[in-house]
Amino acid sequence: MDKYIGLISGTSMDAIDAVLVSFEAPNPRLLAHHNLPLTNDLRAKLGALQQPGDDELNRTARLDIEMARLFAKATMELLEQAGCAPREIIAIGSHGQTIRHIPSGEYPTSFQIGDPNLIAEITGITTVADFRRRDMAAGGQGAPLVPAFHSQVFRSDNLNRVIVNIGGIANITILPARQDEPVIGFDTGPGNGLMDAWINWHQGKNYDPQGEWAAEGEVLPELLASMLADPYFALAAPKSTGKEYFHLDWLQHHLKKKMPTVDVQATLCELTALSINNAIRLVAPATDEVFVCGGGVYNRPLMQRLAELLKPAEVASTDELGLPPDWVEAVCFAWLAKQALHRKPGNLPSVTGARHDVVLGGIFWGN
Ligand SMILES: Nc1ncnc2c1ncn2[C@@H]1O[C@H](COP(=O)(O)OP(=O)(O)O)[C@@H](O)[C@H]1O
Ligand SMILES: [Mg+2]
Repeated sequence: MDKYIGLISGTSMDAIDAVLVSFEAPNPRLLAHHNLPLTNDLRAKLGALQQPGDDELNRTARLDIEMARLFAKATMELLEQAGCAPREIIAIGSHGQTIRHIPSGEYPTSFQIGDPNLIAEITGITTVADFRRRDMAAGGQGAPLVPAFHSQVFRSDNLNRVIVNIGGIANITILPARQDEPVIGFDTGPGNGLMDAWINWHQGKNYDPQGEWAAEGEVLPELLASMLADPYFALAAPKSTGKEYFHLDWLQHHLKKKMPTVDVQATLCELTALSINNAIRLVAPATDEVFVCGGGVYNRPLMQRLAELLKPAEVASTDELGLPPDWVEAVCFAWLAKQALHRKPGNLPSVTGARHDVVLGGIFWGN
């Protein structure tokens, strides 16, 4: 069987998502999945690397290895759960953990850690990694990469669909029903990241369960307007961003006076919903259906606001399209490994802005 593994730890730095996928049918089949949470200590160390600081090189080198060991552990646990041997797997696609994403300027780069040499050595499985930088070398943003995959598996030929992936950062994929129209995709701005940071700062929790705290607050119009005036939201695509831009200091900069903390949380939730809605209305006003994936689907006020704002388009989770929302991104990296081994392109120039399509990722052979 055509079995691949996909591994990712996203910008939320919450956990490693690991999936076992078969690509034999026209659409990917999710055979097993596993979530390996990161400890708070590790999250703090990774978070500290998102901004320049002392002794960065040593800290990065150590975490590169620590993360690789964890990616390998997640793989072995996944295989054990699935009753599957490493030799049955054609390849792993490992996104790694982004610690810096700098898509523009004189030195554009995107830096993921979790050494693929070590993953291949520990698991014995061929590992494909470093997916973003070849797109950047070809003049692209290196992100988002999921639209190419969304286009393969979620596109309809009679309805205009949009896929919204709400992780730490949120990104959208516009899938026009007309097959001659290009797929568009970009990061809309913050997803759960600022809400996570705010509740962590005030209550020590890693996230706001079901968005309950956000639901208790009132939206602060002045703060909302100030945040929405950030130039990123008006920037034309292609564009991508990261937590090195939308972080707690960014929020503090917009908080001109002391506000009830619960209202700030409600406003951050509204910011995510509005920025996604505004982006969709601008580039895809004729949208029929919107499907959401990523941890944001569990934030009730966020999903409720999206459903209200995006009317008359229907809003649902990617479950409706046959892929559970928690695993879409990891499945995408399994697919990207397959693309690489078949020497097929993994990027969409209409999305990333690259000059041409290109095979993504470096290959680290297994035993
Ligand atoms: N039960 C839940 N209630 C509210 N938010 C949740 C819940 N589960 C996950 N999330 C949100 O989803 C985030 C993780 O989503 P994920 O798709 O893994 O993002 P990333 O790709 O950035 O790691 C968490 O940080 C949290 O904000
Ligand atoms: Mg995650």
